[in-house]
Amino acid sequence: MAGTEPLTIAITLPACLAVPPPIPKKLAHGSDPAIVLPVVDTSAKATRKIGKLSKPKVRPELHEGTRAGAWNVGPELGKGGMASVHAVTHCVFGKRAALKLAHAEILGPQFTCETFLREARIANLVDHPAVTDVFATGSFDNRPYLVMERLSGETLGARLDRGPLDRDEAIEILLELCDVLGAAHNAGVIHRDLKLDNVFLLDTPGRKLKLLDWGVASVVGEPDPLAGMVAGTLTYVAPEQLRGDELTPSADVYSLAVLAYQLLLGAPPFESPNDLELIRKHLHSAPPAPSTMWAEIPADLEALLLGMLAKRAEDRPVLDEVVQVLTQMRSVVVPVRAAKRRSLFPAFIPVRMLGAALGIAAAALSIAAMG
Ligand SMILES: Nc1ncnc2c1ncn2[C@@H]1O[C@H](COP(=O)(O)OP(=O)(O)O)[C@@H](O)[C@H]1O
Ligand SMILES: [Mg+2]
Repeated sequence: MAGTEPLTIAITLPACLAVPPPIPKKLAHGSDPAIVLPVVDTSAKATRKIGKLSKPKVRPELHEGTRAGAWNVGPELGKGGMASVHAVTHCVFGKRAALKLAHAEILGPQFTCETFLREARIANLVDHPAVTDVFATGSFDNRPYLVMERLSGETLGARLDRGPLDRDEAIEILLELCDVLGAAHNAGVIHRDLKLDNVFLLDTPGRKLKLLDWGVASVVGEPDPLAGMVAGTLTYVAPEQLRGDELTPSADVYSLAVLAYQLLLGAPPFESPNDLELIRKHLHSAPPAPSTMWAEIPADLEALLLGMLAKRAEDRPVLDEVVQVLTQMRSVVVPVRAAKRRSLFPAFIPVRMLGAALGIAAAALSIAAMG
């Protein structure tokens, strides 16, 4: 970070810890007009940090073979910054489900049990098959839990850890996310925490994904329990989230662009090991041009991604426009999975290049046949 640049302060621990942090007034240092609010970092990384800072306490944990209410606990299915998720089975009905138990560390005066359980209500506000059904709540060790449909598959983050997606698959995933985000926005819900680990790819036939984790979503017209804090994950948050401006659905469009960079180009637009630097980039830096990472990217797709990352919410395309361009991309670019298996082509190339490549291959074959 350049020594002459103004500094802003952000708290990267869940703000509910210990003393609630004061909501900062405008933090104007030098010429920087940014307002940067405390951050409720929902990434698992944040919880690890807290684990080191807090005094070790012996808390009962959910283990395979224990019981939470009427639920027999099975193996852990996953963990995020706010909660751990376990496979459970109802002790009477035998219903299989997943139980999401809040981490003890996140609960406090600013993030209460009620705040955690909002997820159940918000998930039910959004009527869409890509939203997991949440149907019960309870408490264990004075911590709230919610019980939901158990999913089988893996997160998009885990999928990418195994290697890049073909770009046609990436476009289908982005279109599915647009669909569920559209339903949420129509219901007045802004997800606010769209990221790789909150997208779950189902291994069951039919619908391909679920958008998880509505725990820090905001609902238009309702008081926001997280007002005065930045809820979300720094890699994905829109500039207006960092400034504490009123949120619109456009904040999700920004996060979707970050995710699209990861899926289509291999990396998010802004990265830094330093949280303040990352915040500064979201607020002030131009994103790298997609064509520097994918030379043959169709011009309309490049313009779309850059537009979705506009610093001002009102300058971004609305979801319908995003859908329009992504839908066009289905026919502009074609998958070449079979070819890729033979290592002839990159994972995904424009039609015109494929045509040229096939032409060259055919010419080479006829020359070989003549020889
Ligand atoms: N219904 C479910 N079925 C199976 N696994 C789940 C389910 N919900 C969440 N998970 C797993 O648990 C992880 C954490 O869940 P999430 O709701 O994102 O928690 P957090 O709010 O802590 O981020 C997910 O990334 C996923 O791997
Ligand atoms: Mg999560």
